[in-house]
Amino acid sequence: MKQEKILVIGAFGQLGTELVPALRALYGEANVIASDVREPSPLNSIQGPYVSFDVLDKKALETVVRRHHITQIYLLAAMLSATGEQFPTKAWDLNMQSLINVLEVAKDQHLNKVFWPSSIAVFGKSSPKKDCPQDGPFDPTTVYGISKIAGEHWCNYYFQKYGVDVRSIRYPGLISYTAMPGGGTTDYAVDIFHQALAKNEYTCFLHHQTALPMMYMPDAVRATLELMEAPAYLIKNRHSYNIAGVSFTPAELAEAIRTYLPDFVMNYRPDSRQSIADSWPDSIDDTAAFRDWGWEARYGISAMTREMLQHLAARYPSTGERSELLHPAVFA
Ligand code: SER
Repeated sequence: MKQEKILVIGAFGQLGTELVPALRALYGEANVIASDVREPSPLNSIQGPYVSFDVLDKKALETVVRRHHITQIYLLAAMLSATGEQFPTKAWDLNMQSLINVLEVAKDQHLNKVFWPSSIAVFGKSSPKKDCPQDGPFDPTTVYGISKIAGEHWCNYYFQKYGVDVRSIRYPGLISYTAMPGGGTTDYAVDIFHQALAKNEYTCFLHHQTALPMMYMPDAVRATLELMEAPAYLIKNRHSYNIAGVSFTPAELAEAIRTYLPDFVMNYRPDSRQSIADSWPDSIDDTAAFRDWGWEARYGISAMTREMLQHLAARYPSTGERSELLHPAVFA
């Protein structure tokens, strides 16, 4: 079997931070090159092979791919929904041109596989709220969502026309304890854990009853690897797959946190992100991913909340005094 050499673009982001170690565990550290436009710093320290370049610079991308004998690319660099609304043309340029550059290089240098993330942001007001189906309708309300649905078509185009083996997942909001998300509408579901542990209080930028599709990072990493490891003939969809994790409202998440921090106080002050959240589905139908490559989520809200709090508690030393359940002795 040909030895794979993988380039992860956007390695310092929320997903990249976790996907790089998972890929290295599978393929070996030397075979996974982390890359980002940012230089490494104490905040985003990364072990192992690393290159810094701008994916919008196609020549630089070509050089990195050739120099490192890359056979697969994971393109994770993107501007998310909320930030994208502040910088619409910049979001479009980054999200689209990065993908076109990667697909072109994959075609020209005959790469084995490409991974590109899409999002629940491809859906909009006319999409069903509950168990939103794989095939739409799509009417994105954000530049981020427009770039994702356009990108899905580009992926399918490069597969149909040039045979590029590009695979994609529509991620829900991702929840993790290692890296913070950057500029999304679902970011509250990570911030809340830090604020609950630091201050026992959080002011949510969404309404208490706004349900959104979410996923705990270990499920998201496993979904990505399972999709990429599946034999090509199983991947019937070359646009992008819906995957469901867990759906909940801010009020339900606050309640789950109160299992561990009974005095936790949640306030609500919806801002401009509310209208984005209102346009997205509450929950996702992922039967196509289950049927084609066997996808099934493992984490519900209880297990996810427990793990998030237990992992983060060490960073907030007073937590043990406030919660017996989060005392280091309990889960050591
Ligand atoms: N988490 C993303 C966002 O909120 C959705 O894909 O923008």
